[in-house]
Amino acid sequence: MGLPPSGFIKQSIIFLKLYIILYISCIPDSTNHLFAAPTIPPHFGSSDISSYELQTLELDGYLSFDNNHKAATDFGNRYNLYPLAVLHPKSVSDISNTINHIFSMGYASDLTVAARGHGHSIQGQAQAYNGVVINMESFQGLEMKINAGELPYVDVSAGELWINILHETLKQGLAPKSWTDYLHLTVGGTLSNAGISGQAFRHGPQISNVYQLEVVTGKGEVFACSENQNADLFHAVLGGLGQFGIITRARISLEKAPKMVKWIRVLYSDFSKFTRDQEHLISSNDQFDYIEGFVFINRTGLLNNWRSSFNPQEPLQASKFNSDGKVFYCLEIAKYFNPDELDFINKKVESLLTGLNYIPSTLFTSEVTYLAFLDRVHVSENKLRAKGLWEIPHPWLNLLIPRTQIHDFAQEVFGNILKDTSNGPIIIYPVNKSKWNNKTSLATPEEEVFYLVAFLSSAVPSSIRTDGLEHILAQNQRILDYCIEYLPGVKQYLPHYSSQEEWRAHFGPKWQTVLQRKSKYDPLAILAPGQRIFQKGISFL
Ligand SMILES: Cc1cc2nc3c(=O)[nH]c(=O)nc-3n(C[C@H](O)[C@H](O)[C@H](O)COP(=O)(O)OP(=O)(O)OC[C@H]3O[C@@H](n4cnc5c(N)ncnc54)[C@H](O)[C@@H]3O)c2cc1C
Ligand SMILES: *[C@@H]1O[C@H](CO)[C@@H](O)[C@H](O)[C@H]1NC(C)=O
Ligand SMILES: *[C@@H]1O[C@H](CO)[C@@H](O)[C@H](O)[C@H]1NC(C)=O
Ligand SMILES: *[C@@H]1O[C@H](CO)[C@@H](O)[C@H](O)[C@H]1NC(C)=O
Repeated sequence: MGLPPSGFIKQSIIFLKLYIILYISCIPDSTNHLFAAPTIPPHFGSSDISSYELQTLELDGYLSFDNNHKAATDFGNRYNLYPLAVLHPKSVSDISNTINHIFSMGYASDLTVAARGHGHSIQGQAQAYNGVVINMESFQGLEMKINAGELPYVDVSAGELWINILHETLKQGLAPKSWTDYLHLTVGGTLSNAGISGQAFRHGPQISNVYQLEVVTGKGEVFACSENQNADLFHAVLGGLGQFGIITRARISLEKAPKMVKWIRVLYSDFSKFTRDQEHLISSNDQFDYIEGFVFINRTGLLNNWRSSFNPQEPLQASKFNSDGKVFYCLEIAKYFNPDELDFINKKVESLLTGLNYIPSTLFTSEVTYLAFLDRVHVSENKLRAKGLWEIPHPWLNLLIPRTQIHDFAQEVFGNILKDTSNGPIIIYPVNKSKWNNKTSLATPEEEVFYLVAFLSSAVPSSIRTDGLEHILAQNQRILDYCIEYLPGVKQYLPHYSSQEEWRAHFGPKWQTVLQRKSKYDPLAILAPGQRIFQKGISFL
């Protein structure tokens, strides 16, 4: 998922402190949850015993009981659940000993454990109210080790950021195959979800590109697992939302890295033509290396920032292009290459483009290094940070929509519910499930081809207008309500629900497997309480 080209958020932040109080009091879902409300300060009492218990642990790293504010924050900037302690592990046994200790206390203790990757969750998924947060990013259990053989791979700690893996593997001319749009995320965090980006149509998501894992279960046992060894645990933790174990190490498949990327954007005003071309592009093997897309809605004015640093193929025609007041769909594609193949690749791209039905004057291209292409969102991040617009609420909504329902969805959501896309980008592209392993815990639509649609809104702090949190959350809810009523095949990605009923529906035919795996690997429901699927002390069978 990309981040807003700067300029999406019109207002500047004035009352930084005040808005925290303001918006917390107006989050609509803070009252009717089964579980904790978004902000709960640390509390004392029963946890005195728990913290005493924890202090008896012998660790290579350490536990901190104070100044744990960071562990109660995330990218969503809406949930702040304070842990009792944060574990800064130095070894896998720090993690297994801590969990085993908590497990052996049974229900006498209400301690839970959440791994925290880079904390880029949206709704507190990596937080543990009054529990133990494991700071995975500080866990360097392993030196990054690259095997450059026939089937190249890299062994990494699960707390490693993807950007670091890219830098390290590029030194040997190699790189992972499947990415997320933003690389300042951890391996354990994205593998617990799926890791979906513009390469997923070719290689499957990140969870389809990992050979082997090391996992600490909710009992504190440590297992190596793969397709051939402890396969059920391997599949359980992939897309497992942290429910079945803590991933401590991963072996990630690599390929030869290209040096350069030809990066292309074209526009459509006809949604059917847009999706037909996208679906055509993902169906062939001899194709682009990356395929995504965006929706732009600006009923009041011109589109101007969809092509910021790109060059027009036909400058004269492009300058006459008028986007006044319509909905546009931008196809974003990329072809990897090495400098010595430039002529060949230009011809290749030209021929791949000939079959497509975009508006001819809107062909824009750019050439960048592979590193710059993959790390593109970091550029937006830096611009937004400089304006104080990064650490603000992000009420994101991610959906997986069956191919046969995408037209109804577009008509209602882009044509009716949304009035513009000024709160942040909307990403939309199809993937084909044939490269996805359905034994993992990830819940996807039944259909073979489905779309990822990501509404990546930022809320202007303390605004009560259409750019404010309340408005955006209400809009998200309208989209969800529409899907629940009319498009039952739609699934949330990076899901968030308030009741176990909804989780059961989310997992659909996989729910029984989820229950079996939970009772096998985390029977006390200690792990990742912030997902709010299971609650410690409440039987789930
Ligand atoms: C700017 C931005 C762009 C993004 N783009 C994409 C994208 O293109 N595609 C995509 O698929 N996602 C994308 N994401 C979502 C991202 O995959 C999730 O935020 C994910 O949670 C990874 O973040 P993290 O490493 O910070 O994990 P956290 O938020 O820290 O953790 C996520 C969940 O996994 C659990 N967890 C973390 N580490 C482990 C571990 N080692 N073992 C077991 N459980 C663990 C946590 O307890 C929590 O429940 C994007 C997010 C942002 C902020
Ligand atoms: C929408 O149009 C208005 C008026 O022309 C313009 O100021 C604004 O930047 C446009 N928004 C986007 C996202 O292009
Ligand atoms: C999905 O991919 C498989 C394998 O490449 C292919 O056989 C199938 O036709 C594709 N499905 C669609 C709907 O394009
Ligand atoms: C996995 O895929 C197979 C074959 O495509 C299908 O029969 C099965 O129902 C799927 N399993 C789940 C849990 O979705």
